[in-house]
Amino acid sequence: MSLAIVILAAGQGSRMNSDLPKVLHPLAGAPLIAHVLRMAQGLEPARLVVVTGHGADAVAGAVAEHAPQAVVVHQAEQLGTAHAVAQARAALEGFSGDLLVLYGDTPFVRAETVQAMQAARAGHALVVLGFDAADPGRYGRLVARGEVLERIVEYKDASHEERAITLCNSGVLCADAEQLLALIDAVGNDNASGEYYLTDTVALARAEGLSAGVVRCDEAETLGINTRAELAAAEAIFQARARAEALENGVTLAAPETVFFALDTMIGRDAMVGPNVVFGPGVTVETGAEIRAFCHLEGCHVSRGAVVGPFARLRPGAELAEDVRIGNFVEIKNAVLDEGAKVNHLSYIGDASVGEGANIGAGTVTCNYDGVMKHRTVIGARAFIGSDTMLVAPVQVGAEAMTGSGSVITEDVPEGALALGRARQKNRPGLARRMMARLRAIKAGKAGKG
Ligand code: UD1
Ligand code: MG
Repeated sequence: MSLAIVILAAGQGSRMNSDLPKVLHPLAGAPLIAHVLRMAQGLEPARLVVVTGHGADAVAGAVAEHAPQAVVVHQAEQLGTAHAVAQARAALEGFSGDLLVLYGDTPFVRAETVQAMQAARAGHALVVLGFDAADPGRYGRLVARGEVLERIVEYKDASHEERAITLCNSGVLCADAEQLLALIDAVGNDNASGEYYLTDTVALARAEGLSAGVVRCDEAETLGINTRAELAAAEAIFQARARAEALENGVTLAAPETVFFALDTMIGRDAMVGPNVVFGPGVTVETGAEIRAFCHLEGCHVSRGAVVGPFARLRPGAELAEDVRIGNFVEIKNAVLDEGAKVNHLSYIGDASVGEGANIGAGTVTCNYDGVMKHRTVIGARAFIGSDTMLVAPVQVGAEAMTGSGSVITEDVPEGALALGRARQKNRPGLARRMMARLRAIKAGKAGKG
């Protein structure tokens, strides 16, 4: 059965108390809506539509980045969830199959749960995802008998008895697209909020003799983000799951509760991660690599057998080949390090390529920025960069070349050459002692006057 997905993301999210649209607040290094888009894309929908409203341009930008194939439609006024889905009508033109409705602020719904809903469609025209709420609060209540759903009543419109129901509406709903859009046409706004409720489609379907069903999931899965406190709670939930998953996948975490993952972190089996490591977006760590304590990684790739840290920072575009060593207080940005290259101490390597087996001495800096433009440094295989070398880019150091410690390298170094770019040392016999004696005498004279 072919599937279309509509994600509702027009709401203001005023309880976030923020200038940023709610669905763009970050969870595990990615905007909330990216989590929903990722799950949605995993279902390989024939159409993916996002309904925007508040902060539409910014939300559309994030959608383009995380799901380029999605169609963004605009809901100028937020008149209710049914009205929001109706905005997708033109984008669904010519589609036939199931339509799934998700919320952009509900990041944890799992693909397996949606698949269970799709399977339940065999018995029901309309399937709603429900959960037993510990505190049902202001959620819509599902009036159901077993798996058969009679109607959904919004909290504001519910009677005392209905409010006592703990089976709640997650908002996720699945039905035949054409049928659902027809039901939405019949939805009115004569209710306590004056809104067009998507939830009214259940009673309307029943009135037409169509059946509706409930699929249940865990409450944590339908957690919606409305406040910063809920966002922080969601982050904690995400991290707890990501740590458990990493352990399950054969990653050693010395202190799991101190390691932070991003939505898309990929770590291979038998990799080791020390305490206090933060993974930003876009990191892959291959099998058997080691990330020692207190490292920060984003947008980078660490190959097999590589060792990073402690106290290292890998920024976007850092590509470490097998057996590369990155030591303490080293920053790597937009640089490719070939097999076995070593940068062990106190260095900045940016906009560079470092050849196989090259050794970069302590305190080396690629001076990549002239205040206006960035320039590249190319270091050949097995080159030896002396400690405290400044490589003023654009510059190339050939294979098996060396630079003397403290050199400022402004010209290319040929293969196999030794480059010395520093003042020559002169020793003046006895001068240190004579100078010290003079300085002490000056100090003593001053003290006498005072
Ligand atoms: C909705 C459900 C409620 C359910 C709850 C779960 C309805 C009528 N009620 O209530 O049964 O228990 O979600 O969280 O559907 N949105 C738009 N455009 C609109 C209105 C909403 O895009 O015009 C989006 C919001 O941005 C949000 C989602 O739809 O992502 C839900 O809207 P919200 O106003 O939060 O609905 P609730 O009152 O929470
Ligand atoms: Mg809500």
